Amino acid sequence: MPTGVYRRVFITLKWAIKTPRINNISSGARCNRWEAEVWRKWRPRFGWEHLCPVRFCDPFGLILIMDRALQPVTFEEVKSANDLEYGNYYPNVSVEYKPENWGVIAGKMVCVDYGIDEAEQIIKKRLYYQQKSGMQ
Ligand SMILES: Nc1ncnc2c1ncn2[C@@H]1O[C@H](COP(=O)(O)OP(=O)(O)O)[C@@H](O)[C@H]1O
Ligand SMILES: [Mg+2]
Repeated sequence: MPTGVYRRVFITLKWAIKTPRINNISSGARCNRWEAEVWRKWRPRFGWEHLCPVRFCDPFGLILIMDRALQPVTFEEVKSANDLEYGNYYPNVSVEYKPENWGVIAGKMVCVDYGIDEAEQIIKKRLYYQQKSGMQ
């Protein structure tokens, strides 16, 4: 069972089920909630194509369900997929090129970890996305 910095992940044939690590429940739950918000609310506005789909997240962020991506991939594969297939998105999502945060679904390289753990960073990012999408 993979363990990330903030979350434990149960992998099935089709799904990746993320739950906060017990030693830092609030950060893990915040990552889950932000990942769900990015997927549902901001991705449709900014057209990000490189994110792994979120299918379910409860309001507290205790359980998030994503499509399962195939791992491992290499840094070179992540980098070339981003260079060749995805544009320079503006505004962008906070993603890292760490290979463990990426995987392949139906031949497409996707980021499986786009959570943010810090509440203040999330507030700033949300405000920024609101401004860029002409909301408010
Ligand atoms: N959708 C997914 N498909 C396959 N494996 C995944 C998926 N999401 C997460 N994982 C695996 O679980 C690990 C931890 O998940 P991650 O979202 O990176 O948690 P954290 O935010 O705690 O780092 C990942 O590095 C990856 O190996
Ligand atoms: Mg991670």
